[in-house]
Amino acid sequence: MKIGVLGSGVVGETLANGFLKKGHEVMRGSREPGKLAAWKGQAGAKAQAGTFEQAARFGEVVVLAVKGGAAVELAGALGAALAGKSVIDTCNPIADAPPVNGVLQFFTGPNDSLLERLQARVPAARFVKAFSCVGSGQMVDPKLPGGPPTMFICGNDDGARKQVRGLVEQLGWGVEDLGGAEAARAIEPLCMLWCIPGFRQNRWTHAFKLLTP
Ligand SMILES: NC(=O)c1ccc[n+]([C@@H]2O[C@H](COP(=O)([O-])OP(=O)(O)OC[C@H]3O[C@@H](n4cnc5c(N)ncnc54)[C@H](OP(=O)(O)O)[C@@H]3O)[C@@H](O)[C@H]2O)c1
Repeated sequence: MKIGVLGSGVVGETLANGFLKKGHEVMRGSREPGKLAAWKGQAGAKAQAGTFEQAARFGEVVVLAVKGGAAVELAGALGAALAGKSVIDTCNPIADAPPVNGVLQFFTGPNDSLLERLQARVPAARFVKAFSCVGSGQMVDPKLPGGPPTMFICGNDDGARKQVRGLVEQLGWGVEDLGGAEAARAIEPLCMLWCIPGFRQNRWTHAFKLLTP
């Protein structure tokens, strides 16, 4: 599959490398594609770099891995390039204000989510929340006791969630499909929970697992 990865940060790099490892073709995007040259140089023949728009147009599936506060405006600007595609939204709505006692501050409220804002801004795209509740170090082929951890996903389009489930499973995760976009109101704050042991005890390698009988 051709996957466009929008993001020059650690999440974009981790997921791009993960999808390349599983045999996909990847184009990463940035406002400044030049900053991806070193990555492209060592990522192999199936890797390309371009602008955000080029990467969005390239992908049959697109990964959005940008600063949360920039995500809605960027998605809106890309509009047509995202239409009809599954868009994996990894972004967290982290505010610029610092954490309070180890708890991140969000710019969204409790009955609201970044995923819903993205879906409202670009109705023709099929957004699916995934990868937002784990650090980049465990995103690909997580190695943890107790078997594969759980990736919580949601989004309004059944077909998109099914497609993203397959990709997330390829990267070594169990998937818990939580249904429509409103479930992002619960998934996104898992980022806050995930970060608290990091800020308090410098533990950054855990992941969540839903235990069912
Ligand atoms: N770091 C983690 O372990 C982790 C884990 C789970 C989820 N997340 C979430 O994943 C997303 C990506 O995180 P990250 O740590 O890889 O990188 P990041 O520093 O949050 O984001 C870097 C990307 O954001 C883009 N960006 C920043 N400001 C922008 C603007 N005003 N307009 C357009 N694009 C802008 C940058 O574009 P340029 O390429 O043009 O500079 C770059 O591609 C975030 O939303 C984060 O909350 C992170």
